Amino acid sequence: MQIIDGKATSQIVKDEIAAEVKQIKAKGGKTPHLAAILVGNDGGSETYVAAKIKACEYVGFNSSLIRFKDHVSEEELLAKVQELNNNADIDGFIVQLPLPKHISEQKVTDAIDYHKDVDGFHPQNVGRMSIGSPSFVSATPQGIMELIKRYKIETSGKHVVVVGRSNIVGRPMSILLSQKGYPGDATVTVCHSRTANLRELCLQADIIIAAIGSPEFVKADMVKQGAVVIDVGTTRVKSDTTKSGWKLKGDVAYDEVAPKCSWITPVPGGVGPMTIASLLQNTLKAAKKEVY
Ligand code: GUN
Repeated sequence: MQIIDGKATSQIVKDEIAAEVKQIKAKGGKTPHLAAILVGNDGGSETYVAAKIKACEYVGFNSSLIRFKDHVSEEELLAKVQELNNNADIDGFIVQLPLPKHISEQKVTDAIDYHKDVDGFHPQNVGRMSIGSPSFVSATPQGIMELIKRYKIETSGKHVVVVGRSNIVGRPMSILLSQKGYPGDATVTVCHSRTANLRELCLQADIIIAAIGSPEFVKADMVKQGAVVIDVGTTRVKSDTTKSGWKLKGDVAYDEVAPKCSWITPVPGGVGPMTIASLLQNTLKAAKKEVY
């Protein structure tokens, strides 16, 4: 069994970005600028946004954090989105999800200028990704593709089972891995809460992408010997052994599954850090006006 080290890989990607930003600045170019909108004070969202801002500093981007109380109106939030759309200094921005129930996430996502949608959630960007002509691919799927590439994991002709059909991870992963070329050319099965024989399907998988959001859902008896297992789960559970009082749990029962795998991503230190690296890659792309 070998570990796919997302932490080390994200560090390499961040250093590549930092080197490019240094060059851009040396030539008198514009410093890339990412803005993040954070509504309320959900612990998970706070942590993720703080990590994104810190990563911006590391690679030499400018960053702005715009905070709203959780009772902000949809109208006020949409007005801020418009303001960021029109602000030429902001190359890309994200609205951290989830949003409070009284605000439509789809409406807010649709309002973002897709040229600045570095999360890749706008229907235009989802559509482009789906037809194999991507502008911004959403960060977690892009991070997983980057890991597959950098670890030279074979995907052609392989059976990939994606567990989970979310718009953010499961669905885009299934599309990307079934597309022509590398990493792709795989035969993909998407499983979800209504799937019959889920265990049997997983047992047929050469590659499992676990993105259900249910801690330790994938057990050893669901995994074929020698399979590649990518764990996208990041459920925060209470813990007495950590300083924060929380720890992250993946969707894979790591201790029992890992010995059966050829490759596996740990949690933490697997897919999570790559999500942030991908967001930075997208922001650099936006700053370089490489999207249309
Ligand atoms: N919430 C969970 N993951 C993400 C993400 O990648 N982007 C945003 N904006 N919100 C999230």
